[in-house]
Amino acid sequence: MSKQLQLPTIGMGMWAYGGGLSPDHTKDDVEVAALQNAFEIGYRHFDTAEMYASGHSEELLGLALKDYERDDFIITSKVNKENLAYDDLLAACDRSLKYLQTSYIDLYLIHWPNPAIPLEESFRALNQLVDSGKIRRIGVSNFDLPLLEHAAALSETPLFGNQVHYSLLFRKPQHDGTLDFCKENDMVITAYWPLKDGSGISAQSSAALNNQVVIEIANRISATPAQVAINWLARQPNVVTIPKSSNEQRQQENLAAGDIVISEEDVDKLDGLAT
Ligand SMILES: NC(=O)c1ccc[n+]([C@@H]2O[C@H](COP(=O)([O-])OP(=O)(O)OC[C@H]3O[C@@H](n4cnc5c(N)ncnc54)[C@H](OP(=O)(O)O)[C@@H]3O)[C@@H](O)[C@H]2O)c1
Repeated sequence: MSKQLQLPTIGMGMWAYGGGLSPDHTKDDVEVAALQNAFEIGYRHFDTAEMYASGHSEELLGLALKDYERDDFIITSKVNKENLAYDDLLAACDRSLKYLQTSYIDLYLIHWPNPAIPLEESFRALNQLVDSGKIRRIGVSNFDLPLLEHAAALSETPLFGNQVHYSLLFRKPQHDGTLDFCKENDMVITAYWPLKDGSGISAQSSAALNNQVVIEIANRISATPAQVAINWLARQPNVVTIPKSSNEQRQQENLAAGDIVISEEDVDKLDGLAT
């Protein structure tokens, strides 16, 4: 029996918390406070990875949430594609658990596929981690549809879903069948880069936030362009999203995106923004 896991439609992304690819300790206090603020205002899902700041993102999350009830929040973390061999994967998970100061990770993902390591071997380790209670659910990230189908067939416990780039202006998961496959198989798409462009440039220069249609709709309904972009994802079945912010005001703004009301006519306009 697989454990029930319900992700909130809007969670907290954690790329750039604690540094980029390597750790940066200069903002630790501020970032721990930002994560605690996120929890206090209602965020319940935190998305990190061993890759983020080489584990320091996980460390900050562990520090920030160690005094809250563990069952009150959900952690997604991800194993590096270099660590997908059986022993490496088990060791990576133990490191993440230590950094996160917890005995289990709710959702553990293969961050990127690695053709050099047979997926069967990685899933043997992942299923072992489920059996031992160290992870609750297994998922993948950045898997194309054929690989997602292969992974779903391999996982003893039902595969939770796929974390992919999907946004108002980037519709690949709609076009390549990933979204339909997930809906048909009761899997969740976690949409990353809800605000940024595909190039990963800063959200302030994101095409979605500067799009005239998005701005016009946002102004008319007293929302912000970011809220419109997040809401467009959060309203879709089988889709959740994880905008990152370490700024209290923007954390609040992003979480409230779930409550804004966009008319069907405006949704149609947004649907038509990308083909
Ligand atoms: N699986 C994968 O391969 C993968 C790849 C990329 C990302 N991810 C996950 O997805 C999460 C989201 O992606 P991301 O963090 O790269 O990009 P994002 O959430 O699309 O954008 C984050 C950027 O937007 C700014 N921002 C946040 N709210 C805003 C608002 N309301 N108005 C204007 N700017 C705003 C943030 O700055 P402030 O912090 O200053 O607000 C930050 O610079 C990541 O944090 C990570 O957890 C996963």
